[in-house]
Amino acid sequence: MIHERYAKITGWGKYVPEHVLTNQDLSQMVDTSDEWITTRTGIKERRIRGEHDTASSMSVAASEQALEVAGITAKDLDLIIVATSSPDYLLPSVASQVQDMLGAECGAFSLVAGCSGWVYALTTASQFIFSGMYNRILVVGVEIISFAVDFTDRTTCVLFGDAAAATVIEASDEPGGVLSYELGSDGAGAMYMYVPDGGSTSPLAQKTIDERRQYIRMDGQNVFKFAVRTLSGSFKRSIYQAGLTPDDIDLFIPHQANARIIEAAARHMRVPIDKVYMNLERYGNTSAASVPLAMVEAIEEGRLKDGDLVAMCAIGAGMTWASVVVQMGTSEISAAHSLFSMARARHLARRTSDAVVDTAQSALLPLYTFLYQRRKKK
Ligand SMILES: CC(C)(COP(=O)(O)OP(=O)(O)OC[C@H]1O[C@@H](n2cnc3c(N)ncnc32)[C@H](O)[C@@H]1OP(=O)(O)O)[C@@H](O)C(=O)NCCC(=O)NCCS
Repeated sequence: MIHERYAKITGWGKYVPEHVLTNQDLSQMVDTSDEWITTRTGIKERRIRGEHDTASSMSVAASEQALEVAGITAKDLDLIIVATSSPDYLLPSVASQVQDMLGAECGAFSLVAGCSGWVYALTTASQFIFSGMYNRILVVGVEIISFAVDFTDRTTCVLFGDAAAATVIEASDEPGGVLSYELGSDGAGAMYMYVPDGGSTSPLAQKTIDERRQYIRMDGQNVFKFAVRTLSGSFKRSIYQAGLTPDDIDLFIPHQANARIIEAAARHMRVPIDKVYMNLERYGNTSAASVPLAMVEAIEEGRLKDGDLVAMCAIGAGMTWASVVVQMGTSEISAAHSLFSMARARHLARRTSDAVVDTAQSALLPLYTFLYQRRKKK
């Protein structure tokens, strides 16, 4: 039987630590000011993990909400993917801890793609659903990035914050959900943003700590330029791939790194800024949690409703980028707008014609065999 499947976001949840670190607080720690941070980044405050917050506990708190919204239990899950660059331990994978803490009975793996992690994970989950392998997948973006932030370095410590957000992705027969996506990587930009020590190339040592090499180093200006170029380009490619134009998109959710990056990308795309969601003022850059946290808050604020088309795009260390176009809820996407539907229709037609040819060939096989044997006898 030919069965078309769609991957829909049916549940969402978030967890942000209670502790708020304001620009004013930072100005007591390093040579900076609320004015500098606000004008250069748009960020006013960020959350920093509490004593008991771990990547696993924060993931579980966000996931429990997401499961409740989806109306399913952890036992219903077929797979868990956790996107993070700040897991509880190097080993084991934090996804297995989340699986155990939730009481799920399914496979679980972590995925590292810097700040692009959750969009990579959503795209990965969709493939398991499109293929028919799984029906219900938990996709988490979580980050305790503050552990890798040098709070004596004013060029980085003002940017980042901790958070978790979770989504449930479910299979559906009704068109909608994930419509198109793009994953990208350019490892040539590895040194634009990296942690020098602590990996297998340069394990932690006293020298590491003395030179503060266990913390993020960043070439801010190159990351800035890369981000503007890549956000606008990847957004557009995903939107066109879905057979849509930027005008069709109800809400853009870019990676929440810097308001100036987002405004420049919106200008490049000629998209009015009121169609672009931002919550970075309250959280800063929460890395892999950034895009899903913004999506959850956009839903909570009524900025995303059933049937809305949302384009999401993240960029991160690697350098990596990932974008996705999703139709929220269960409403059918307009066929007139959806080249993706046309592509699916063509694919369906091809599969149907292949099936007809196969059936005809099977039916004719005895006749061919008879004719062949008769020819041989002659
Ligand atoms: C980091 C960033 C905000 C810096 O803004 P910028 O306008 O490029 O600023 P510059 O790096 O040119 O620095 C300008 C000056 O401000 C200073 N400065 C840097 N951070 C500062 C801070 N927190 N407070 C005060 N001054 C600061 C610099 O030292 C520099 O001083 P100098 O001219 O005396 O050398 C910006 O480059 C950026 O957002 N980059 C992208 C970072 C990012 O998003 N990373 C994550 C991607 S996933």
